[in-house]
Amino acid sequence: MTGEFIDGPGYFAKPFVFVDCTDDMTIMKEEIFGPVVAITKFKTTDEVIERANSSEYGLAAALFSSNITKATHVARKLQAGMVWINSNGDSDIHVPFGGVKMSGIGRELGSYALDMYTEHKAIHINLGLNH
Ligand SMILES: *[C@@H]1O[C@H](CO)[C@@H](O)[C@H](O)[C@H]1NC(C)=O
Ligand SMILES: *[C@@H]1O[C@H](CO)[C@@H](O)[C@H](O)[C@H]1NC(C)=O
Repeated sequence: MTGEFIDGPGYFAKPFVFVDCTDDMTIMKEEIFGPVVAITKFKTTDEVIERANSSEYGLAAALFSSNITKATHVARKLQAGMVWINSNGDSDIHVPFGGVKMSGIGRELGSYALDMYTEHKAIHINLGLNH
């Protein structure tokens, strides 16, 4: 593990990198908002998809590969609201932002965000035409 907390006003930390993590570790199960990365090994893409999907969270995922065909296949299978391929944390005002499962519902940004502020109403009128 690297990383350290920095003294002084406020709450700051240098990036923490945890290696050789196992799926039973708390750090692998929780959604951490901070400069923290937990690294583990995998053998096949099916294995890593299954392990990633077993998380109760699904805000975002980032994957790195020189094979874009394989990367997009994995990205489609991952249960995450956002997936970055060969990058991490990119955002654009036109692109929906948000997660699935315990990471949230709905989307911010883009035209999708309008739904969050919209109350749809259905009015059903029986015109007596089916009788
Ligand atoms: C991962 O989740 C996706 C989306 O639900 C699903 O299509 C896929 O079968 C899952 N894969 C595994 C290995 O769990
Ligand atoms: C890229 O990935 C696809 C799908 O897994 C595979 O069929 C293909 O052989 C890979 N290409 C290279 C150059 O490894």
